[in-house]
Amino acid sequence: MTRLAKFACAVALASVSTVWAQDGNADNGQALAHTCAGCHGIPGYTNAYPTFRVPRLGGQHPEYIVSALTAYKSGQRSHPTMTAQAASLTDQQIRDIAAYVTQAPAASDDPDIVPAGDPKKGEQLAQTCTACHGATGAPSITQYPILAGQHPDYLAHALNAYKTGQRNNAIMSGFASNLSKDDIKHLAAWFASQNEPLYTPNFE
Ligand code: HEC
Ligand code: HEC
Repeated sequence: MTRLAKFACAVALASVSTVWAQDGNADNGQALAHTCAGCHGIPGYTNAYPTFRVPRLGGQHPEYIVSALTAYKSGQRSHPTMTAQAASLTDQQIRDIAAYVTQAPAASDDPDIVPAGDPKKGEQLAQTCTACHGATGAPSITQYPILAGQHPDYLAHALNAYKTGQRNNAIMSGFASNLSKDDIKHLAAWFASQNEPLYTPNFE
């Protein structure tokens, strides 16, 4: 899918925002999302230590964004910047932000990165993941994050974090603990190379 098509798609989705966002208010979310723009609104923006691209939020399930921000807020998930960002948000503000960032128009010039792993090897390994993450990484169950089109180095970072216990989730810790470093690279390459639907949003 081209970036332009993604933009058109985001505009089309905006019209059904009330359904998608549940009780989140995207207009309020837009105002709150200004503080997120410096990282999540810049295509290819990189976290310094360790080095990986910040996750694409556009096109993600709002329910998953709510659960991620709530996990940073509660301390269940930790990252210095994100913990600080989420700490000051109310539950309603979190729902509003999730409604906005997932359907904001796509930033232009948002290139896909060449993954370190081999997508073909990743496809075989991914058989154990599809029950939850969908056959191509775009699950219809909204509690499970979309992986398709996510940055490969972020996906690898997330899997490593589950493996080392830096990130805690009963389901994912179990799956990641069995993966080798190479498995992680290949899986990240496969899911990242699936066409759509994640993109870097352009916060206005
Ligand atoms: C200084 C850069 C920076 C800023 C500002 C920032 N983020 Fe993040 N964000 C990150 C990084 C880095 C990660 C990955 C952290 C990790 O490994 O858990 C992240 C992760 C996330 C995730 C998890 C995504 C996923 O796929 O699990 C969400 C949701 C998120 N940010 C939303 C926001 C929102 C909303 C704001 C503004 C209120 C914001 N971020 C501000 C850098 C930033
Ligand atoms: C039984 C369901 C289930 C299975 C099977 C599963 N996952 Fe997950 N996955 C989840 C859930 C739930 C989350 C969100 C956990 C959290 O909040 O940290 C998740 C999160 C992730 C994330 C983090 C995404 C992000 O945006 O931060 C990655 C990467 C991931 N899974 C990859 C995989 C891979 C690769 C496999 C197969 C080896 C797999 N998962 C198998 C349910 C599953």
